[in-house]
Amino acid sequence: MSSALLENYGERDLALSHGAGSYVWCEGGRKYLDFAQGIAVNSLGHCHPRLVEALEAQAGTLWHTSNLFRIPASERLAEKLTGLCFADRAFFCNSGAEAVECGFKMMRRYHHTKRDTHRKSAKWDTHRKRIVGLSDSFHGRTLATIAAAANTTHCEGFLAGDAGFDQAEFGNIDALAAAIGEETAGVIIEPVQGEGGIRPTDPDYLKQVRQLCDENDILLMFDEVQCGVGRTGTFYAHQRLGAEPDILASAKGLGGGFPVGACLAREAVAAPMSAGSHGSTFGGNPLAMSVANAVVDEISTPEFLEQVRANGAHLMQSLRDLQAANPGIIARISGLGLMIGVFLNVDAGRFIAQLREEGMLVVKGGNNSIRLLPALNVNRDEIDQALAHFARALKKMESK
Ligand SMILES: Cc1ncc(COP(=O)(O)O)c(C=O)c1O
Repeated sequence: MSSALLENYGERDLALSHGAGSYVWCEGGRKYLDFAQGIAVNSLGHCHPRLVEALEAQAGTLWHTSNLFRIPASERLAEKLTGLCFADRAFFCNSGAEAVECGFKMMRRYHHTKRDTHRKSAKWDTHRKRIVGLSDSFHGRTLATIAAAANTTHCEGFLAGDAGFDQAEFGNIDALAAAIGEETAGVIIEPVQGEGGIRPTDPDYLKQVRQLCDENDILLMFDEVQCGVGRTGTFYAHQRLGAEPDILASAKGLGGGFPVGACLAREAVAAPMSAGSHGSTFGGNPLAMSVANAVVDEISTPEFLEQVRANGAHLMQSLRDLQAANPGIIARISGLGLMIGVFLNVDAGRFIAQLREEGMLVVKGGNNSIRLLPALNVNRDEIDQALAHFARALKKMESK
């Protein structure tokens, strides 16, 4: 590996050269079944013809103009996304962390504006700037997003002071109630946790969180950077879980491989973000917007989402069967749609290496797990190939 690169990603030995759908080839020519898909980014697999067409058409027309001018494709995408969920407004950026950061700013700005409006009322005479995050969360690598998730490995050496974030245990409503104070502006939750090991929130818990936020007059943000855009079988994951946020961060699968992020919000929360309050040079860029429009057109149909649910159920059940036959190796399976975590009793790194030897790529997750994040248009045959790779890897792990 080149010593000119920062070492932050550690050693890597595989260079991928090209891909098509659910398959990818390395420089040496070996073919892999890709159930990593750029960590849930290539939502339609590698080089989907409709996305290639959208990108090529835009590349020959207009690349970048800045937000000094109207970008019709961003207006179209904002209309589509707000039409698909609770939100009234969209802000476009380039990554998940930026989408979350925008949401944090919205939370604080909302209360700041509200405090000005209610200045004479004692109730609002507090500085609601603090944000509560949950254990095992991941929200990105910027200063605010690492502070929100409070993962000690990610924070070490980077933070000055507490940065305005508090923590509560995942899934524990009493702990969350205790963490909310007079200075709390809002709560951030991944409806399905990703990096920490795939773990969906319980629908009852999520409803209680919504209620708690309403009772305390604070905002609820869902981080759907990994679990959104069809990944769980509804366009956004919370639509399967029965509670709505005030703000939502979206990215990864939204661009199908092209960098794009979005922060979506209700009107009352978006309104204080007046002209000059926020911005991004590349956010809403015509190249990104044309690809994202094509992604959303493809993924948002009822038939497509139904297929994700059906294929997800098949993969989940088949993995549970493998678990029942190999309880010494697989501890538990959890997930929703095509976002599945396999928690292991053996070292996850070794299992991932074994799968790679079989010809399949997956992603490591927290708590000694692996993540299966195939393209959302993966077919049954490819899923069954993945299961065959899995079964072979299990056998080899058993005999080691
Ligand atoms: C839930 C969640 N939020 C935020 C992020 C950060 O996204 P990005 O790496 O695009 O900044 C990620 C990335 O893995 C994520 O999974």
